[in-house]
Amino acid sequence: MNLNLDADLARRMAAPGDVEAALEAAKAEYRRLAALGSEDKDWPVTGWFHCAEAARQLDLIKKKAAEIRRNAEVFVLVGVGGSNQAARALIEAVKKPGGPAIVYAGNTLSAHGVAEVLKAIEGKSVYIDVIAKNFETLEPGSHYRVLRAAMAKRYSKEEMAKRVILTGTVGSRLEEIAKENGCTFLHFPRRVGGRYSAFTPVALLPLAVAGLDVDAYLAGGLAMEEELAKTEGGLAAEYAAVRYALYRRGFQVEMLTAFEPRLFWAEQWWKQLFGESEGKEKKGMLPASMINSEDLHSMGQYMQDGLRFMTETFLAVDDPGASVVIEPDPDFGDGFDYLDGMDFANINRAAEKATIQAHAAGGVPCMVLRLPRIDERTFGLVYYFFMAACALSGRLLGVDPFDQEGVEEYKRSMFAALGKPGVKGR
Ligand code: PA5
Repeated sequence: MNLNLDADLARRMAAPGDVEAALEAAKAEYRRLAALGSEDKDWPVTGWFHCAEAARQLDLIKKKAAEIRRNAEVFVLVGVGGSNQAARALIEAVKKPGGPAIVYAGNTLSAHGVAEVLKAIEGKSVYIDVIAKNFETLEPGSHYRVLRAAMAKRYSKEEMAKRVILTGTVGSRLEEIAKENGCTFLHFPRRVGGRYSAFTPVALLPLAVAGLDVDAYLAGGLAMEEELAKTEGGLAAEYAAVRYALYRRGFQVEMLTAFEPRLFWAEQWWKQLFGESEGKEKKGMLPASMINSEDLHSMGQYMQDGLRFMTETFLAVDDPGASVVIEPDPDFGDGFDYLDGMDFANINRAAEKATIQAHAAGGVPCMVLRLPRIDERTFGLVYYFFMAACALSGRLLGVDPFDQEGVEEYKRSMFAALGKPGVKGR
């Protein structure tokens, strides 16, 4: 297992004894989570806890992905929130050559956005994967309509059946549609919520289509699952405990900061996970994110010197996966000779270290989650770590980390505004 959490700087800023007390509580919550059976009535959405239970239909997924990679020029991932974030974050961080272009749809109501998707598939060999847990959400449902209509203009019924993959819960309308039309149907496990679906077919098919090593990814998830099981929540309990102790001290925002731009979508995934899991009953830290060094030239000012109500967690990467050395240019006189012979990998590392020191000195409780590199296995480790930490953290806060009533409320209000039958406005 090779993730490392350094929380020393942050711990010092919590009230004495608070981290220790929260850690005991987090471990107790971990034991409770680990002891849950599938019949549990209090926390019914914990199917993600065992990676092997979440990862299903692997052979079918690999076979279908190979077909898509052979035949498609464009693969459209139709899904929103938990139904697309995990796959997107890994695909965008670890780009592999070959295979179809991947287009994200079902995540906007912008006419311009939808038109762009239609433009991207025009005249191209296209496959789509419609991912929707209950198949009521407006964005994926409406985009499926539009894409279906566009595809039906050029593909026969048999060809459509091959090119449309539907991912939903067993017994849902989406499964019926798959049966009626002969499409491949992948399981969205009922006991897994969208934002905890990283190890289910929801993410596995798109990852395999992108040419990523899903076995290494699942092995990462499993390695973290086993590590946490051996240590009663280990790193995840510690992270949850420290942030909770800081929250009790008035720190209301957690900034997730990375110095690798390709982790942008991983930060988006993390924001969804924590925002939707914890922001309820007028409680919860607001998750925010920065990509440095660019954001040091905007939000960096606030982090250093603004209101002191933020903690910062750095996603530090040991091996950036590239090396670019700056060659001397003695006659040019640009004033940058002090960089001669330096590798950007080291310059970035130095900038990260300096930022941590400066922000900590400026009164920001800083934690560092150290990743060995950015690859499939590491993403498996990181996803499982954060999902477990989020579940524990939500429980410390006293909220249900698996529901999202606030989102459901906005969905109801939008349905009413659009005149969906059976839904009344307030
Ligand atoms: O995490 C969640 O549960 C949500 O973000 C859902 O994933 C999101 O609202 C999409 O839901 P559905 O897959 O039912 O369309």
